[in-house]
Amino acid sequence: MYIKFNPSTLLPLGLLATSTFASPALQKQQPIGNTDDLAAAILLHSHKPPVTEDLLAGTIDTKNLLSRAHDLYTAAKISEGHYNHPTRVIGSLGHLGTIKYIEQVLGTLTGYYRFHEQQFPAVSGNVYESRLVFDSHVVDARPMSLTPPTKDKQPVFATVVAVENDGCVEEDYPLEVKGAIALIKRGNCSFGQKSENAGIAGAVAAVIYNNDIGELSGTLGTPKEHHVATFGISDAAGAKALEYLAGGGVIDASAYIDAEVNVIQTKNVIAQTVLGDQENCVMLGGHSDSVEEGPGVNDDGSGSMTLLEIAVQLSRFSVNNCVRFSWWSGEEEGLLGSTWYATHLTDEENLKIRLFMDYDMLASTNFAYQIYNATDAEGDPKGSEELRNFYVDGYKGLGVNYTFIPFDGRSDYVGFIEAGIPAGGIATGAEGIKTAEEVEMFGGLAGQWYDPCYHQLCDDLTNLNETAWGVNARLVAKSVAKYANSFEGFPVRKLDSADIRAERVLEAKKKWKYRGRKLVM
Ligand SMILES: *[C@@H]1O[C@H](CO)[C@@H](O)[C@H](O)[C@H]1NC(C)=O
Ligand SMILES: *[C@@H]1O[C@H](CO)[C@@H](O)[C@H](O)[C@H]1NC(C)=O
Ligand SMILES: *[C@@H]1O[C@H](CO)[C@@H](O)[C@H](O)[C@H]1NC(C)=O
Ligand SMILES: *[C@@H]1O[C@H](CO)[C@@H](O)[C@H](O)[C@H]1NC(C)=O
Ligand SMILES: [Zn+2]
Repeated sequence: MYIKFNPSTLLPLGLLATSTFASPALQKQQPIGNTDDLAAAILLHSHKPPVTEDLLAGTIDTKNLLSRAHDLYTAAKISEGHYNHPTRVIGSLGHLGTIKYIEQVLGTLTGYYRFHEQQFPAVSGNVYESRLVFDSHVVDARPMSLTPPTKDKQPVFATVVAVENDGCVEEDYPLEVKGAIALIKRGNCSFGQKSENAGIAGAVAAVIYNNDIGELSGTLGTPKEHHVATFGISDAAGAKALEYLAGGGVIDASAYIDAEVNVIQTKNVIAQTVLGDQENCVMLGGHSDSVEEGPGVNDDGSGSMTLLEIAVQLSRFSVNNCVRFSWWSGEEEGLLGSTWYATHLTDEENLKIRLFMDYDMLASTNFAYQIYNATDAEGDPKGSEELRNFYVDGYKGLGVNYTFIPFDGRSDYVGFIEAGIPAGGIATGAEGIKTAEEVEMFGGLAGQWYDPCYHQLCDDLTNLNETAWGVNARLVAKSVAKYANSFEGFPVRKLDSADIRAERVLEAKKKWKYRGRKLVM
């Protein structure tokens, strides 16, 4: 018999709010445990039975998962004092409580893992007020996330000047843009690039209109010196303004954004088995943060708690390859933690990661079993398609249907793909609409979001489908066990040349309209 861990007795959650958060050793980002401890830990754990897919999947018990969801919700509630509702957004006590909970659980596993925190600066923006007025008509305009404010956080008054082509190169900006509000078409390059080009051309604000039907909201991404206050507007509003300008009309406009961009120190948690070939690791991740609006029990409590439960259960077994778990921070601000991690790997460390598996939202109430469609044809790093096919076989083996969804940049695999590391993952859906065909395949309700509480206050303990969570946790367990056991037949890693790497980033920029939950182009 193996010791059965009772997840809910591990942590006196009442202490979370007041206790200091990390030991000095953690803050120095040192692995926990010295060399002697490591040798002792290896000795202690290496006699355990080798993990297999069936054994590890067999440890999954939905009751344990739900119990962890409860603990997570308790952590989210610590934020109520500041936010008036439960949340685990970066910078909140609820987020710190989440990280502390994860580390406390890992700390009970008698040295099975070495784990550390990776601290990094996360950019986080707030728009307090905004207004765009074209000739005395208020335009339905959405300020971009991470936009700077207008000058002195005051309205600016100027005429509107249309930019040529798509505004992706400086030559597209006529001289008259200087001191004016630049009107730019969406497409071909990021909103951030357009805002920067407008700033360099001397515009006092930028307005990007949709090249697709409907309103436009997105993010400028990493703040740049020349970014100007930037709005998104609909295709219709854009067409109206362009038509007026083309007919020789002059638009007297005012633009106003009161916004702030702050840098918050936050941290990833990384845990690695002491057993197994340390040069060949299977890595998996979920995100520890939520949006400000709610506690994020499905997004990504379902993924991050699946990982934690599997980390606990895996410790009953021995492994041939190292297994590395990650709990990313700042996912909701634009995949910040995972990107920081992937871009700060040395070449040597990069090569040790044989593949990365992303687990973000595994228990949506109106779920579909979705597999990221990562393929060789799309130029994804070799191995990504093998992983995709593993999930296909996995769902078939579990007796359920599945769909492929676009590998479009919406979760923490992006940094890995850009670093040339094969990646993929599964999910149950966010704000997408379930089709009638999918209802045949999965049950649920057509015409509604997969997760009706996506990024809202109601993403709480009632926002989980246990059936979906159980099936997905089993598949995650199988994925861990498979690669912990063997990489036989899985493509060998080789380092991309600098050229290929640059090419990948460029390709990704063209291909991926999202960076996390927000549109970037
Ligand atoms: C797209 O943007 C690039 C610069 O990022 C530019 O060189 C190219 O001409 C643009 N393509 C089109 C079709 O405008
Ligand atoms: C998956 O990707 C491949 C290669 O790009 C493509 O041919 C296929 O249509 C995609 N499948 C779906 C369902 O999107
Ligand atoms: C899979 O989907 C088909 C419809 O495409 C449906 O008939 C079948 O019952 C589904 N299987 C399961 C296990 O839900
Ligand atoms: C979870 O989904 C299954 C399959 O659609 C459904 O039968 C069940 O009622 C759902 N459970 C909850 C709690 O919504
Ligand atoms: Zn998420």
